[in-house]
Amino acid sequence: MSRILRIAVDGPSGAGKSTVARQVAKALGIDYIDTGAMYRAVAYKMIREGISAEDRDALKEMLAHTEIDVSGCDTLLDGENISGKIRTPEIAKMASDASAVPEVREKLVAIQRELGRSKSVIMDGRDIGTNVFPDAEYKFFLTASVPERARRRWLELRTKGQDISLETVASDIEKRDYNDSHRALNPLRKAEDAVEVDSTEMGQDQVAEYILDVVKNEKTE
Ligand code: DC
Repeated sequence: MSRILRIAVDGPSGAGKSTVARQVAKALGIDYIDTGAMYRAVAYKMIREGISAEDRDALKEMLAHTEIDVSGCDTLLDGENISGKIRTPEIAKMASDASAVPEVREKLVAIQRELGRSKSVIMDGRDIGTNVFPDAEYKFFLTASVPERARRRWLELRTKGQDISLETVASDIEKRDYNDSHRALNPLRKAEDAVEVDSTEMGQDQVAEYILDVVKNEKTE
């Protein structure tokens, strides 16, 4: 691939963004960047240090001494691999709260832009097409119904041995949807020029193939 390609995949939690984006990255031989993992890393450190999203001074001080790297397969926080520790409902909730704090977004968005500056990437998140790379070559907005997203997330959590009811997962998802799309700064919304894909009735392979078709077809034009 000769020119730099930025592919934005946004959408609510549980829409299957990361699985699909990972698959597309592999097929195209480009990097996959999970921006949600960056917000989760901040949340993980906040919980560990007992800092709430309202405690802005402590949070700013913490951010000044925080290094986050998701450029490989793992999420590194200050050099420590925390990949296996950030997929819990508690961290998801704190990540959603942290993501509304301007200083948090400012720091993470700067890292994200740098990652896509000199090489091709597929990045998933909430504001990639609207804010991080408004000029991305390709933008997708992945959705699925709440019951379907809850079912997928519930299965994933159960596989990891977490004992949680489907109803709790569905209500957590609804709360997070609300939080993420109602915050003042870069809320979750579809970019006007993004292609919307409703994956409620689609398998993840099908969604990945669809994205690959769009990217490959346009590339040869
Ligand atoms: O995709 P995820 O569930 O791992 O994301 C965790 C939280 O991070 C989510 O509730 C919203 C926030 N987030 C964000 O505000 N902007 C992004 N680009 C990615 C995630």
